[in-house]
Amino acid sequence: MYPEKFQESIRKVEAVRAANAAMEPPRMTADEKDELLRKYHPDYRESEFENLIIGENKGDKVPHELAAMLQAHSRVHEGDVDLSNPDYDTDVLIIGGGGAGCSAAIEADEAGAKVLICTKLRPGDANTMMAEGGIQAADKENDSPAQHFLDAYGGGHFAAKRELVYKLVTEAPEDIKWLNELGVEFDKTDDGTMITTHGGGTSRKRMHAARDYTGMEIMRTLRDEVLNRKIPIMDFTAAVEIIKDENGRAAGAVFLNMETDELITVRAKTVVLATGGAGRMHYQGFPTSNHYGATADGLVLAYRAGAKLLYEDTLQYHPTGAAFPEQIFGALVTEKVRSLGAKLVNCDGTVFVHPLETRDVEAAAIIRETGDRGKGVDTGHGKAVWLDSPMIEIVNGPGTIMKRIPAMYRMFAKRGIDMTKEPILVYPTLHYQNGGVEINTDCMTGVENLYAAGEVTGGVHGRNRLMGNSLLDVIVFGRDAGRAAGQKAVTLKTPEKLTLSHVSAFEDEIKKAGIETDKVSPKLLPNYLRNDMTRYDGPKIQ
Ligand code: FUM
Repeated sequence: MYPEKFQESIRKVEAVRAANAAMEPPRMTADEKDELLRKYHPDYRESEFENLIIGENKGDKVPHELAAMLQAHSRVHEGDVDLSNPDYDTDVLIIGGGGAGCSAAIEADEAGAKVLICTKLRPGDANTMMAEGGIQAADKENDSPAQHFLDAYGGGHFAAKRELVYKLVTEAPEDIKWLNELGVEFDKTDDGTMITTHGGGTSRKRMHAARDYTGMEIMRTLRDEVLNRKIPIMDFTAAVEIIKDENGRAAGAVFLNMETDELITVRAKTVVLATGGAGRMHYQGFPTSNHYGATADGLVLAYRAGAKLLYEDTLQYHPTGAAFPEQIFGALVTEKVRSLGAKLVNCDGTVFVHPLETRDVEAAAIIRETGDRGKGVDTGHGKAVWLDSPMIEIVNGPGTIMKRIPAMYRMFAKRGIDMTKEPILVYPTLHYQNGGVEINTDCMTGVENLYAAGEVTGGVHGRNRLMGNSLLDVIVFGRDAGRAAGQKAVTLKTPEKLTLSHVSAFEDEIKKAGIETDKVSPKLLPNYLRNDMTRYDGPKIQ
């Protein structure tokens, strides 16, 4: 039950609900979308970006918050650690224990390599775990990888690396099968057929799901497989620098024990970076749907090691972050809610956008509606719009919400809101980094023997990712990176001379460029005492 201040608007929404549920809102033309994005999408707010002045992407535009981390001092310097006597030795070092890291570990193990996973928090503390709505794969008769390619490439504004999109869509059906056989409990009909739905920007129903906790179910299964294979994991161990050999190839990493502050060195023949996203950077002061550890660490590690980044100026603001009540501010309200029939309506109950445009378009439309159009609902902590969830039960029948999106139901029910009967308040939340470390089709970065997979990479999704292509990305490229790193590692000798000279060289660049900063990176954890969310027109985190 909502407080009295919302009741007048709710009555307007209820009055037109049945009519809204029955209507098909118009689709925007390409020109309309372009104009909307240019005027309202946060990626187009020039004042929020700056050009890098050192490193491989010198001259490129990135958010201020990221520039500060990419051009900061290292947490470790030559001489701080004894590289002649590393603490651990392995063939393949996997940095990150989320979906991409675990998939990579499984395949590297399968390739016969000795594998070690190091992860900043616990295995599974990652954005994979937070993913709700589903994973795409063109495995139905009316669909094809070619169709999937067109959706993903177009949805990304034709900016993705085509060879990576090709891998994403062609390997998808096999990877769903792999997950299914590993034990992921996908939603199926009584005869065992996978249930698939639409996501924003999909031309076919190819979203496979495990209710609305698909990522958690996939992560559970991958983590079990890692444990079953007895792949060693060092948890609460954060990577702070890549180690190289005398020929400039990746040869391990320096870690910080998050509990004791000790530095740990690991020597490896190949390294896979699978550190995930950056939502906890709170770009432009936005709230986030991301995991607590999503602080862009991998970008910093790779950049200082000399790898190139791609499209670091493009972020994904998920259109439907929870905007009320305050306790769940920024939490993900899965796109599946819209895919099941709920529409976005303004304070008067008017549908203002088709519910399944791509995410960047949906987010920009909400920002316009609550901003220039003045049709938002005042939550007391900023403006929001209604996502009219009771429409789901009108369109699909009673009980659909509990059956298909039980986690959503519980998130709101715990706070006294019954989304089967009452609409929910939403506003865009920082959800995904579209860009990241550039990789080739073997998942190798610009630094030899440094592989990368998952959200830390850029190029797979261009300038906007479609729903369900991120879980797919972590599986496809996680597996591929692990396989490539494992197969290469078993052919290599243990690197002899380890060095952090690239870190010293980067420090020299900082000095030469006249950058004056007291910041150190990677960030590792958000610092809410400093109030990172000060510029969002919403609740301040103290
Ligand atoms: O809306 C969602 O469930 C999110 C899915 C995704 O980012 O792929």
